[in-house]
Amino acid sequence: MRDHRIGIIEKRLKGIKRILLFTGAKGGVGKSTCTAVSALVLAKRGYACGVLDLDFQGSSIHLLLGMEPGLPDEDRGILPRTAAPGVSLMSMSFFTGERGVPLRGEHTTEAIKELLAVTQWPDTDVLLIDMPPGMGDEILDILRFIPRSEPLVVLTPSVLSVKVASRFAQYMKDSGVSAKGVIVNMAAETSDFRQLLASEPALAALPLLGIIPLCAGLDKNTGSPDGLLQSTVAGSLDAILSAVIKPESALNLKNL
Ligand SMILES: Nc1ncnc2c1ncn2[C@@H]1O[C@H](COP(=O)(O)OP(=O)(O)O)[C@@H](O)[C@H]1O
Ligand SMILES: [Mg+2]
Repeated sequence: MRDHRIGIIEKRLKGIKRILLFTGAKGGVGKSTCTAVSALVLAKRGYACGVLDLDFQGSSIHLLLGMEPGLPDEDRGILPRTAAPGVSLMSMSFFTGERGVPLRGEHTTEAIKELLAVTQWPDTDVLLIDMPPGMGDEILDILRFIPRSEPLVVLTPSVLSVKVASRFAQYMKDSGVSAKGVIVNMAAETSDFRQLLASEPALAALPLLGIIPLCAGLDKNTGSPDGLLQSTVAGSLDAILSAVIKPESALNLKNL
């Protein structure tokens, strides 16, 4: 029997123009950073942005954006909280504080469905979703509940990160989902990752959306939306988001 919440989720997300998913099976590659900074960059350009933190075990967006603890308001659903001008956020951390969320397997999927079904997004142009690491069932479930979402694969230019991301891209492809492209994060000036990416067919088949250099002082800007917006990461994401919003400008790995 079809879960009635699926229809509710469709309705809740109906008015949202684009839904970007920041994915990558590995933890620590910068998914949360890219999600939060992308929302700030897009909001600065005038887009109304929503951010949904679905990494329950590693909730980070509220910390990156420096939000005070507090419960969201309710009005025909639960209203995301304003995190920065033009950016609203829904996060499990609003309810749990800094306590861990001991959810596993099916319970995680249930909580994701519930969160999607109760959240009443304000007028939103772009919804950015911070995805959990790993390749658990909940990843495919999210893609199933939000069929028009556009997954971006975030990786770092290390052998391990590229190998794991490649496995993840193949897993999505085998499940009938095509990722929008690859973002290489924390690239040192000297890192030669192009060959590394090209040697992994599942990644080489995807557009390279852009490269974000390693930004030495980034950690100091945790909790400061203004600081994050002034970082080099924001500059790189600005260019990447142009490629994502206008896909024809994306670089293609095969042409490099
Ligand atoms: N381009 C970058 N330059 C420097 N540090 C970065 C960059 N991107 C992310 N980081 C740092 O890497 C760490 C992991 O990032 P995070 O966004 O939490 O990764 P994930 O969400 O994939 O686990 C954080 O300490 C973050 O500040
Ligand atoms: Mg994270």
